[in-house]
Amino acid sequence: MTVLGVGVDAVDVERFRALLERRPAIKTRMFTEAELDDVGGSKSGAARLAVRFAAKEATMKALGRGIGACRFLDIEVVRSNKSGSASGAPSLRLARRAGELARAKGVDEWHVSLTHTQLVAIAVVTAEAVERGPGSPRIPPGRPDSGQEQWARTVGERSDTGSDVE
Ligand SMILES: CC(C)(COP(=O)(O)OP(=O)(O)OC[C@H]1O[C@@H](n2cnc3c(N)ncnc32)[C@H](O)[C@@H]1OP(=O)(O)O)[C@@H](O)C(=O)NCCC(=O)NCCS
Repeated sequence: MTVLGVGVDAVDVERFRALLERRPAIKTRMFTEAELDDVGGSKSGAARLAVRFAAKEATMKALGRGIGACRFLDIEVVRSNKSGSASGAPSLRLARRAGELARAKGVDEWHVSLTHTQLVAIAVVTAEAVERGPGSPRIPPGRPDSGQEQWARTVGERSDTGSDVE
């Protein structure tokens, strides 16, 4: 295993909540339907969206790129289903430009950790390349059986207009 990049970001929850109230359209410009469904109308909704925003910025840092390198919608925070046997731990799915940047960097796996209080939301993201024996084929992230390409097509339809941040 080789660590290719690490990113961290912290977001002020009250400022983010105020931004969402002032510019509600930002929600659908920055967050996928699955992310918005996951957060729902929960009491800590602003903090949970803030931490997802932090994760997107942290991912851009881990890629060695800044804001604007890809659309926020190209990076999705997904969670293993809490109601099933899975733990509820978050992970990342990258699409479109973010996926291309990750492939160009050689990223095979992402690790993400989130935490939030009423004040601050923090995300840490690590990009990893998996060691392979000589001659083993490289399986790029986003292979068709992961369902990622279907998701990429879905968000692609939603993210072609306008920039994420004005
Ligand atoms: C997971 C856990 C540590 C979260 O701690 P917390 O102080 O309640 O909340 P934090 O703000 O620090 O973290 C919340 C985030 O942790 C993440 N999380 C949830 N379950 C997780 C898990 N099993 N592993 C890693 N991260 C997890 C989520 O992304 C969550 O944010 P979200 O609800 O907006 O998606 C706590 O719920 C717990 O102990 N759960 C049961 C044990 C467990 O699964 N532990 C594994 C991690 S040590």
